[in-house]
Amino acid sequence: MPEQTVEYYDEIYGRGPYDEVRYHRLWDLVYEWAGDPNVVCDFGCGTGGMLDRWTEPRPMNMYGLDFSQEALKQARSKPCDDVNFMKWDIIKDRFPFSLRPCLCTCIETLEHLDDDVLVFDAMCSVSDRVICSVPYRDRIPSPGHIDDRMYDEEMVIKRFGPMHRIENIFDNFLMFEWRG
Ligand SMILES: C[S@@+](CC[C@H](N)C(=O)[O-])C[C@H]1O[C@@H](n2cnc3c(N)ncnc32)[C@H](O)[C@@H]1O
Repeated sequence: MPEQTVEYYDEIYGRGPYDEVRYHRLWDLVYEWAGDPNVVCDFGCGTGGMLDRWTEPRPMNMYGLDFSQEALKQARSKPCDDVNFMKWDIIKDRFPFSLRPCLCTCIETLEHLDDDVLVFDAMCSVSDRVICSVPYRDRIPSPGHIDDRMYDEEMVIKRFGPMHRIENIFDNFLMFEWRG
């Protein structure tokens, strides 16, 4: 499928509560890798579950960015009131604040974007560290995913590695990390 519009995501999220449980293991791995960052920015945060569930100590500043108002509505109804959820288009908008995040995360979102490399590069340029995950060798067609792109370790290194050395790869979810 080609890259989808905001209307597509609003329609999906508008159908009702989003199933986040399948991401819990993935988010737990982010917390484990993240350590104790002061400023975290989650790109394509969806319904905000990862930032909401972040255990103590919580980062001092947390931002969740997504272009779907429906997703953000669910995110803002979560117990966490220390997270700033903002409507933001990863492709079209300029980075929305001058604060430099210690950590940028982008979980199960790059596979939805035509120019995943550009987005990864942009995150590296505004932060000290980036943790991403993409579906591992996913052959199941999903209407939100870009056609013909199947990530594995080799592809991640080939695709994102030439500009930024990838430090860590955890293969089950294909989570990977860059450190500046
Ligand atoms: C599979 S969801 C991942 C949600 C979240 N990261 C999580 O862990 O639950 C992909 C998200 O990417 C967002 N997205 C897709 N294209 C976007 C864009 N151009 N700008 C901002 N968000 C976008 C969608 O709205 C959706 O919430």
